[in-house]
Amino acid sequence: MARILVTGGTGYIGSHTVVELMQQGYEVIIVDNLSNSNIDVLDGIEAIVGKRPTFENIDCTNYVDMDRLFSRYQPIDGVIHFAASKAVGESVEKPLMYYRNNIGSLVTLLELMKTYQVPNIVFSSSCTVYGQPDAQHLPVDESAPIQKALSPYGNTKQVNEDIIRDAAHADANLHATILRYFNPIGAHPSAMIGELPNGVPNNLLPFVTQTAAGLRQELKVFGDDYNTPDGSCIRDYIYVVDLAKAHVKAVERMLIVPEREQVETFNLGTGRGLSVLEIVRDFMEATGVKVPYTIVGRREGDIEQVWANPKYANEVLGWKADTPVKEVLLSAWKWEKRLRNIV
Ligand code: UFG
Repeated sequence: MARILVTGGTGYIGSHTVVELMQQGYEVIIVDNLSNSNIDVLDGIEAIVGKRPTFENIDCTNYVDMDRLFSRYQPIDGVIHFAASKAVGESVEKPLMYYRNNIGSLVTLLELMKTYQVPNIVFSSSCTVYGQPDAQHLPVDESAPIQKALSPYGNTKQVNEDIIRDAAHADANLHATILRYFNPIGAHPSAMIGELPNGVPNNLLPFVTQTAAGLRQELKVFGDDYNTPDGSCIRDYIYVVDLAKAHVKAVERMLIVPEREQVETFNLGTGRGLSVLEIVRDFMEATGVKVPYTIVGRREGDIEQVWANPKYANEVLGWKADTPVKEVLLSAWKWEKRLRNIV
């Protein structure tokens, strides 16, 4: 079975993808420097799959270490590149760290992939590249215009997409799949792996589950005066396990469809937008647990509304994100309860 190098494989989306890959029989090599994840994630993966993935604690920007890794694990059939810093606010404070980590790691990988003749890469991009699409581009498909990034983080995703396209243009052997994620939420149904935010969560769902668990007093809903039906922002929340399965489909396609285009880009979302207030309501209905919240002012830089048109991914990858949102919210709650020893 094919051998796949997964950078950032102990992270949130990475770990769920490793599980799906291993369950399909792929051999997985994880490379991660644990800068925003925990080594215990390997136990969670092993508990689900019954087998431990190979793990290398390496920083993907370190060319020498990465060279050694590529040499040691030859032949590698493909790379999934998750490893990146991902906090929008932090990227504004520490732009150079973001450029070094996110751009340096991709350049290093692409150079080594050329040296070691690894022909395939799947890259984690984001719907952030679309900014706020015009009304005529909602739901947003892959042809919608890319807009100037609002943060260094967002810019690294755009620049990395450009780097991949340029590298592929110059090298006919390189094939890339760019996956633009919408908002991943939830945890593996086993609750053995899930999202592990550092400190106070920035993202909505971890804040909701931590509030439900009593760690936070109340959720602050950032704005109810947007031009949306209930005034709060709208996003396309996609179950992380559905998202992980899309990576397996992308890898399969990479390995068995030689006639595909050199660079393919897919929006990965459900096709359905939900508001912040709808998420809070659905969470309370699904779990029966109260989440106290107050409406506060808008958060700087927030997009008003964006959701995906996932038709291209549905058709070409033969994949669909169809787990009901309440089931997804329950999985997030089950994970939070396990973390906090709540019965
Ligand atoms: N929200 C709240 N209260 C909170 C946290 C979030 O009301 O405590 C709201 C936000 O204002 C937003 C929605 O919940 O309307 C979702 O916010 P998240 O922070 O979970 O997600 P974002 O859509 O803002 O961010 C995501 C990714 C980023 C990416 C960005 C691009 O997490 O990596 O999309 O738009 F850059």
